Amino acid sequence: MAAQQGEFAPTSIIVTGGAGFIGSNFVHWVVENQPGVHVTVLDALTYAGNMANLDGIPADRMTFVHGDICDAELLDRVVPGHDAIIHFAAESHNDNSIADPAPFVRTNVEGTFQLLEACRRYDVRFHHISTDEVYGDLALDDPARFTESTPYHPSSPYSSTKASSDMLVRAWVRTYGLRATISNCSNNYGPRQHVEKFIPRQITNILCGIRPKLYGDGRNVRDWIHTEDHSRAVWDILTRGRIGETYLIGAYGERSNIDVLRAILQRMGKDPDDFDWVRDRPGHDRRYAIDPSKLMRELGWRPVHTDFSEGLDATIAWYRDNEGWWRGAKRATEERYARQGQ
Ligand code: NAD
Ligand code: DAU
Repeated sequence: MAAQQGEFAPTSIIVTGGAGFIGSNFVHWVVENQPGVHVTVLDALTYAGNMANLDGIPADRMTFVHGDICDAELLDRVVPGHDAIIHFAAESHNDNSIADPAPFVRTNVEGTFQLLEACRRYDVRFHHISTDEVYGDLALDDPARFTESTPYHPSSPYSSTKASSDMLVRAWVRTYGLRATISNCSNNYGPRQHVEKFIPRQITNILCGIRPKLYGDGRNVRDWIHTEDHSRAVWDILTRGRIGETYLIGAYGERSNIDVLRAILQRMGKDPDDFDWVRDRPGHDRRYAIDPSKLMRELGWRPVHTDFSEGLDATIAWYRDNEGWWRGAKRATEERYARQGQ
């Protein structure tokens, strides 16, 4: 689609964390939908990064840089000449942040700081990918949803580092006039999500003959969105969002964990009670819920993947068809969970 007058129309972008789950889905989306855009992926290939996530991207559309966002000298070599950085790279898993918060502070806070400084040095547009978890949680019986003006109240080491990075972005906009935007999205699902996360963990447990594991009382609510809808929202904000603004991304997808687990069990031909209750996550947020009306009103964004059952079936099929992609990570992940009693 051609850019409208007044729109930001980048031709050369850096995607940090582009070998991870959401970052790689965004790279595929840009390559398929924005033919004039070249993507540089900057990724450290931690346990969560996987080059196979970028399979199928034509060589003339993407350059891969293996490196750390905390490395200021590397950023001096990579950033000049690009129009924008879309910053997905992070340590992203709450349970890991509880077991060992140090890499979260380093990558999520220090890494974001280094990227902001590089954008300032080279006058590059910045879009920061954040999470609804910065707002803390809502009660199950509270009709409210998070909005852009909800006060920050993060609960976990992960969400507090994401909240810190959001604050850095806001300060760089106000103090240095950096051209930046922030989006805070709810729980993503879809292909290529690491098997440590809830939906892929349960699907691959069933495929391996392991009983799914549910934390606490299973009534915690997450607000699910398909990762492709997230990608399109990020592009809309990057190109048409107002500088300095925050946009919440969500698709009215609230579901309790036990309902999601039972849907997976049923769709995979299992008994709905065929799972184990396990130790709860310390500080476990009760409910997330996004009000996406600003994004819809200002930018006209709408989710396309509105049928959760259909999205779940496609996700189950993806894990069935791509066992080679997850088999190695599965063993290491389940060993780690077993040590934590989960
Ligand atoms: P992920 O863990 O699947 O991928 C993270 C990627 O970042 C990996 O490729 C990893 O190698 C890379 N990375 C980590 N540390 C790095 C470093 N120091 N330098 C360079 N690369 C590094 O994460 P995800 O689930 O795809 O999440 C992506 C972003 O979206 C994160 O910022 C996360 O906070 C945010 N987010 C995630 C969700 C969700 O549901 N997963 C929802 C809202 C927001
Ligand atoms: O809300 C956005 C956030 O969603 C992102 O910022 C995070 O990066 C992303 O990991 C995700 O965080 P959650 O903690 O909500 O996702 P997770 O997949 O770890 O867990 C989803 C819910 O399922 C949560 O209530 C914990 C529960 N759970 C998780 C696992 C792994 C279980 O009951 N059993 C499990 O085995």
